[in-house]
Amino acid sequence: MIGVFDSGYGGLTILRELRHKLPEADFLYLGDNARAPYGTRSFDLVYKFTLQAVRRLFDEGCHLVILACNTASAKALRSIQQRDLPHIDPSRRVLGVIRPTVEALGAASSTGHIGLVGTPGTIASQSYNLEIEKLYPGFRTFTHACPMWVPLVEYGEAAGDGADYFVRKDIGALLSQSADIDTLILGCTHYPLLLPKIEKYVPAGVKILNQGRIVADSLVDYLRRHPEMDAKITRGSAVRYLTTERADKFSTLASLFLGQPVDAEQIVL
Ligand code: DGL
Repeated sequence: MIGVFDSGYGGLTILRELRHKLPEADFLYLGDNARAPYGTRSFDLVYKFTLQAVRRLFDEGCHLVILACNTASAKALRSIQQRDLPHIDPSRRVLGVIRPTVEALGAASSTGHIGLVGTPGTIASQSYNLEIEKLYPGFRTFTHACPMWVPLVEYGEAAGDGADYFVRKDIGALLSQSADIDTLILGCTHYPLLLPKIEKYVPAGVKILNQGRIVADSLVDYLRRHPEMDAKITRGSAVRYLTTERADKFSTLASLFLGQPVDAEQIVL
């Protein structure tokens, strides 16, 4: 199985694209809904929670885990890759979502002015800014943290009027920083669940990157370059869902979003 981890429902936006690109692969999704949102938590706590989740996915038999969460990718990925994996099992892999997203910017932007919205944790970590500077030294990154967007999704309010208020306000605050922003990164996997609202307030000339598709393409490429990992992936088109919150609540919201029945299991991390 390929493990897919997020603090809550956001990783489903990545899982959907992964399944589209790798329809035969088996997936194990883990949402730490009981402890979401991660975006306002300290570095240490996000690292601790993410490591617990990765260990659990390894214990369940995953050799490859995708952190389908920008906050965990920003705050925990490097420590897990460099400090923990060598002790736990050097043959296993944990991959994040930030690097592939930044790699896609070159083809997307003409002005080099990039807009980034994300959780307070992702924005404060400067992870995107640093990666963008490394890969595209001439680009400028304009950022804005949106602390209310994840709670709107986690509480099932993504389609409500309250969401309009916050999305309009936050998109306005981002775009007011430069008239030349032509590419928008939704730097949180929950945000595509607010896409109908976001599209209302983002001008037509600004391209909104599809992070799920970018991550899925990058995983396909990774598996092509790493046949030893590809060989470990079981292929029965099965998906299991684990959540740290009530299973019935997760199943209802996840089924609505994915448009197919989800039968989640509750676990304790
Ligand atoms: N979906 C996550 C992300 O991509 C985290 C959201 C949160 O728990 O705050 O950043």
